[in-house]
Amino acid sequence: MIAIDPKQLTERENYKFLIGSIIPRPIAFVTTQSQEGVVNGAPFSFFNIVSSNPPMISVSIQRPGGHVKDTARNILAGKEFVVHIVDTDNVEKINETAANLPPEESEILRAGLTLVNSTHVKVPGVKESKVRIECVLEQALELGGDTEPGCDFIIGKVVQFHIDEAICEEGRIDPHELGAVSRLAGNDYAEIGKVFTMERPQ
Ligand SMILES: Cc1cc2nc3c(=O)[nH]c(=O)nc-3n(C[C@H](O)[C@H](O)[C@H](O)COP(=O)(O)O)c2cc1C
Repeated sequence: MIAIDPKQLTERENYKFLIGSIIPRPIAFVTTQSQEGVVNGAPFSFFNIVSSNPPMISVSIQRPGGHVKDTARNILAGKEFVVHIVDTDNVEKINETAANLPPEESEILRAGLTLVNSTHVKVPGVKESKVRIECVLEQALELGGDTEPGCDFIIGKVVQFHIDEAICEEGRIDPHELGAVSRLAGNDYAEIGKVFTMERPQ
């Protein structure tokens, strides 16, 4: 084993060890709305469950060079967002939305995604997703930022699920029907591979 002190590494080197080690990462496609009404969408793989009771999720939005991304800015201002699970059917369109566009231009329409109204939040979602999760901002933490650019760590409380009935049976989602795509390092992605079952010891 090599022992590595992250303080001796550059930001890029630390990033590569993190994204190469913590795999596979699920990908959230997050829609938000600006104060001017422009709907924004972008993918985030620093994404996970925080709590099931109450249901909460997290998305970590980096601040490259200290710049607050549109998604974070819109969530901080509007306190609402919609998370979509990226899958094999929508991954290419969603990848298109990661382009850096000016805040007044919508990545969603450019990628050919279709907006759909939400039921509990003002921010619309997109139709091209088998799981759509409406969230309200629970907490936003500004992390780092003294010497490093830092990030906006967003915790959202789930206020509504929308799940395609074709992937769900008796309250369980079939992983192969969902076909979630995960992010590895660089430009690499992975699909659900071999699934195995193991009983937990008593
Ligand atoms: C698959 C994928 C995963 C990504 N994950 C993250 C992430 O977890 N955090 C982050 O800050 N940026 C992430 N990005 C980059 C953002 O999507 C990108 O900066 C986007 O332009 C931000 O959009 P916005 O400025 O409209 O918020 C990811 C990009 C891709 C393609």
